[in-house]
Amino acid sequence: MKKHLIFTLMVVFTLGMLTSCQYDFYVPELPDIDPEVDVSFSQEITPIFSAKCLNCHGGNIPPDLRPENAYASIVPARVNLDVPNDSKIYTKPLPDGSHAAKYSDAEAALILTWIEQGAKNN
Ligand code: HEC
Repeated sequence: MKKHLIFTLMVVFTLGMLTSCQYDFYVPELPDIDPEVDVSFSQEITPIFSAKCLNCHGGNIPPDLRPENAYASIVPARVNLDVPNDSKIYTKPLPDGSHAAKYSDAEAALILTWIEQGAKNN
């Protein structure tokens, strides 16, 4: 009898756990980015990496985010042009994530816009 009860509770609990996950993508609220104007990889994106990421991604830990190597390290391996907000270079350091360094909301939006525009080497 007791075993049945415990088993039932476990099943109910497990089902609850399985159905409670939500897959929300992080959607930053954003200012000032005109989607019609190309974000510049060299002028706007690599400076973010240089400011926040090179301690670790300066050649030792992939991706190599030094300005001269960043593009090759990111495209195509870490961008998803079909689902831009599923790109690793975007999702990993999101402001609400747990990575060692995180983008600000504005930086995240810039990266996402750059990917949406085709992740150009511009
Ligand atoms: C304090 C060290 C540190 C800093 C600073 C750091 N990272 Fe990382 N990063 C790591 C480590 C370690 C890994 C590998 C383990 C993992 O995936 O979490 C990693 C993994 C990643 C990955 C996943 C690579 C892959 O293909 O699995 C991406 C993308 C990334 N970092 C981007 C960034 C960006 C962008 C910044 C700057 C905003 C940054 N990281 C700053 C340590 C760091």
